[in-house]
Amino acid sequence: MPETHNRMFEKATQDAADHLIQPWPSAGSVGAEARGMLGSGEGVYVHDDKGRKLIDGPAGMWCTNVGHRNEALADVLREQAMELSYNSPWYTSNEPSAELARRIAGHAPGDLNHVFFTTGGSTAVESALRFAQFYNNVRGLEGKKKIICRDGGYHGSTYLSATLNGSQRSRNWMDFADDLTIRLSCPDPFRRPDGMSIEDFSDHLVREFADAVEEHGAESIAAFVGEPIMASGGVIVPPDGYFKAIREICTKHDILFIADEVVTGFGRLGHVFASETCFDVVPDIITFAKGVTSGYFPLGGMVVSDRLLEGLRASNHPEAMYAHGLTYSSHPIGCAVALKNLDILEDELLEYTRGITPYFHDRMKELEELELVGEVRGMGLMACVECVADRESHNPIRLDTEVGVRIDRHCQELGLLVRPLVHMCVMSPPLVITRDQIDSMVGILHEGIWNG
Ligand SMILES: Cc1ncc(COP(=O)(O)O)c(C=O)c1O
Repeated sequence: MPETHNRMFEKATQDAADHLIQPWPSAGSVGAEARGMLGSGEGVYVHDDKGRKLIDGPAGMWCTNVGHRNEALADVLREQAMELSYNSPWYTSNEPSAELARRIAGHAPGDLNHVFFTTGGSTAVESALRFAQFYNNVRGLEGKKKIICRDGGYHGSTYLSATLNGSQRSRNWMDFADDLTIRLSCPDPFRRPDGMSIEDFSDHLVREFADAVEEHGAESIAAFVGEPIMASGGVIVPPDGYFKAIREICTKHDILFIADEVVTGFGRLGHVFASETCFDVVPDIITFAKGVTSGYFPLGGMVVSDRLLEGLRASNHPEAMYAHGLTYSSHPIGCAVALKNLDILEDELLEYTRGITPYFHDRMKELEELELVGEVRGMGLMACVECVADRESHNPIRLDTEVGVRIDRHCQELGLLVRPLVHMCVMSPPLVITRDQIDSMVGILHEGIWNG
């Protein structure tokens, strides 16, 4: 690495340690932490401050779907900035956001035909939750406020979206609107009760959902929010039929079904949206972000069903205002980038992803031969390697919390960025990954876990 680069990284590392508050910091190092620096990227690779070329295993944070350094997206970013860099969505509109809304509606299932754009995933979920509250208030159902969520879920870092998060680690030191939530079990087949079949586990989860509705009363419940596949929770693919059964209960009790497709949307499972194509469910609202711009610009949003909007328009309160909007809602640059990103997905990448998915899983599954690996699971181009202390037990004792970090360290030395989640390694590479690159990734993971 050239000496000038070295000096640049050293200075940036020092500046970060002196002045930058990193996301999700711990009290002991807040504002004084230097994380590894990345300098540049290309395709599935990133280059770090040690001069290494690494496969970007998690595609940043599940978002760099078309890969790094995509020239078409970079060109659009510049062109739109030179055309119209910003307009106030309070009293004007722009062409890219209108076209993008139309095209997203064309991909969304059922009558989900209207799109509200936000700045990312948390604000998308927050918007959906506030919309559900507004919807019920306008209909005179002010008591219908609670939100059903699940252990293991992740929905964001704004107050209400974070309240739904299901990892204990993130709940220990923060405040939440817990009186608004009903928390149910994680639908993780790998950690189902001993001796229970997957079918029985699914029935058990659906019964738990129905019991919760009965106990709290449908008149107090506004919505269920769930990721089709729990991403940060460890790529949890729920049992077959689970979502369909929950959708039926929601429909019966006028509870909105909100699918959080922030990770599963925009190509990760080979489709623009996965709810209907992969899980046979038409939600009332879908939230999205990340892959919508492949991370080139912060953008998210929610797609809302016509039925809900018609319900509002038919209410006795035409004056009622959904008092919610962001300075950067419908951002022209973000929407222009998303349009080009969608072109790439539609023209080649969705089909390519569906084609390469079986190879990705066949190769990833081979890691189960390692003693430390309890299960490799996933769908589309997302997978999780879950390490266990005891392979024989159906409900293995969790390993020490450093195992993922150790694997990540070994893998980085060998040329792969891993996303360690305590004892799990999550892989969600850019969708442009080739078979050869999958071979390299799995080879490095094999060695990294072996040494973990
Ligand atoms: C399923 C899901 N929803 C919401 C979010 C929050 O998105 P953001 O970090 O863009 O606010 C995330 C982030 O990882 C996510 O995985």
